[in-house]
Amino acid sequence: DGDDGYRLWLKYEPVINASVKAEYLRFTAFVGNASKGEIVKSAAVELKTGLKNLLGKSVSVTNSFGNKTGGIVLRLDASNDQQDEGYHIALAGGNIVVSSKSESGILYGTFALLRHMQMQLPIENLKVASSPKVRYRMLNHWDNVDGTVERGYAGSSLWKWYELPEVIDPRYQDYARANASLGINGTVLNNVNASARFMSQEYIVKVAAIADVMRKYGIKTYLSVYFAAPKTLGGLSTSDPLDPQVRAWWKEKVAQIYKEIPDFGGFLVKANSEGEPGPQDYGRTHAEGANMLAEAFKPYEGIVIWRAFVYKADPRADRFKAAYEEFVPLDGKFDPKVIVQVKNGPIDFQPREPFSPLFGNMPKTPLGVEFQITQEYLGFAAHAVYEAPIFKECLNSDTYVNGQGSSVARVVDGSLHGYSRTLMAGVANTGSDRNWTGHPLAQANWYAFGRLSWDHELSSEQIAREWTALTLTRNQKAAESIVLLMLRSREIYVDYNTPLGLSRPWMGVHFAPEPWQNKGSRPDWTAVYYHRADSSGLGFDRTASGSNALAQYQPQVQKQWNNPDKTPLPYLLWFHHVRWDEKLSTGRTLWEELCTRFYTGADSVSWMRQQWDMAKGSLDEQIYASVAQRLEVQHREAIWWRDAWVLYLQTFARQTVPAGFEPPR
Ligand code: GCU
Repeated sequence: DGDDGYRLWLKYEPVINASVKAEYLRFTAFVGNASKGEIVKSAAVELKTGLKNLLGKSVSVTNSFGNKTGGIVLRLDASNDQQDEGYHIALAGGNIVVSSKSESGILYGTFALLRHMQMQLPIENLKVASSPKVRYRMLNHWDNVDGTVERGYAGSSLWKWYELPEVIDPRYQDYARANASLGINGTVLNNVNASARFMSQEYIVKVAAIADVMRKYGIKTYLSVYFAAPKTLGGLSTSDPLDPQVRAWWKEKVAQIYKEIPDFGGFLVKANSEGEPGPQDYGRTHAEGANMLAEAFKPYEGIVIWRAFVYKADPRADRFKAAYEEFVPLDGKFDPKVIVQVKNGPIDFQPREPFSPLFGNMPKTPLGVEFQITQEYLGFAAHAVYEAPIFKECLNSDTYVNGQGSSVARVVDGSLHGYSRTLMAGVANTGSDRNWTGHPLAQANWYAFGRLSWDHELSSEQIAREWTALTLTRNQKAAESIVLLMLRSREIYVDYNTPLGLSRPWMGVHFAPEPWQNKGSRPDWTAVYYHRADSSGLGFDRTASGSNALAQYQPQVQKQWNNPDKTPLPYLLWFHHVRWDEKLSTGRTLWEELCTRFYTGADSVSWMRQQWDMAKGSLDEQIYASVAQRLEVQHREAIWWRDAWVLYLQTFARQTVPAGFEPPR
């Protein structure tokens, strides 16, 4: 029977390289574990399972291993020179020793060792030292009480609220294992558009049951909160953050949660954003709202994560500028327990956006980054888009706030401004589908997010290679062709979807080419607001002659983007309104270049299909077929996007499609 994708990158398929296998067998006489902690126990159990499958060997776990050699030893070691959650793997005293200051570190080291073995790498000279660059590495689930997932494309929620707390789906543990294997140490279970029900005792005990499973894998559980809960749930007359009764309500609420979940992680808050309630409803600031919650967490380790995703329903304003305008003046006003979570684009997770100008401009406030793993704007579960290059592009962007080398990564990992509370969050793409993510290749995006949250210096290519080897195939040639497909997939998508920094309108389901759709439920939710097509040209002028959003960046960044002749083409229409017949650096006019991108982009999906087919013989049949069929959908939809855009833009440009490209039907 075929591979249903359930086991993700933890398949532990038998090691076939004979000499490597012989080597591994020399170090698997026992698993030594002297600790009584439950996280180290998870590590030992994982090793047992892994070794059984990789080597066909039943290895027992012992806590009395004394001077025995030839085993794997898990050792807590207070003098370890890595950070708390970091680890060492080394050959010492005839054993493979995984050591760390903390139980979690041992678990991460164990998973790293198992990854090493799955990749059939030699054990000789094994020496790894690794520490996470970011402290809070978490998934944000946009899961609702009713089991639906906002912007989820892989079935319904993993969390079965109606049968909790009594029924513990074994899947919760596999979810925890998968995350821990990447170093993810936090999970927000519910949607940022939060239901107040999660603050009820009925739900707190359900959450506690999930937290009990997560805890064994070093994962803390968090909740999104509805800011107006004191009113809607608590029956108070207000939710004003400066009202003493409201403050007392939250304090009590937090205490109630800690009674059930002693290691509760904290709150994630979407406030005064897209109609959600917040402190501004009472004339208070985001900081006053966040600090009230932080106060409730004072007696505990938990934190408050406050999102900076805000903008007004004002068709004359530039949404690009909104978060900076609201948050920069609050720098220095947040309680130390607060982290402000910033999306990786100033607008909203678009296929390509410039980095948010908030990064670097709030030196007194820890800023976390929020990536979107689920493919809201990237073709749902039908299109193959490998996201590591998107995450890396944001992290590698230079803010120049402290001169050259002030990358977003250095803001986020705290090294630029000395924050110790650092955070990377990813909006999860998981669901009840047997293979977790719907599209089999979308598993790679979960994987990539997790690996980068541990170490943002890993390259997209390295991560793609690892994931492909662990998940799809050990055949070199097949892997090469898949990795190439993955690495190019994002640019291909951008070319048929939003080339040259074109901002794409999104109405309704968020995945339909409707550039003509100008009846939104809000005055700013119209297509033309974003793309700014007119008879003279296309693109959003964000220079001084337009919205001047560019002024929110450092002068060195402005210099890269403020001159239309010098702006790199991927960002051109983000910052400039360009005439249709303007000659670009490629030698083509804007209109010709757009057509070229739309057509070659859509065409390249047939290249992706060929790349995938080249690997066919080395892939599981079920996974091969699932991806092949999805690529077929992607191809059809890429052509649909191309034609919709070209036909629409043609009504303004009033030019024919350049020779060589067939006109759209
Ligand atoms: C996007 C998305 C919403 C989500 C929002 C957010 O607008 O479409 O579903 O709630 O982002 O991040 O808060």
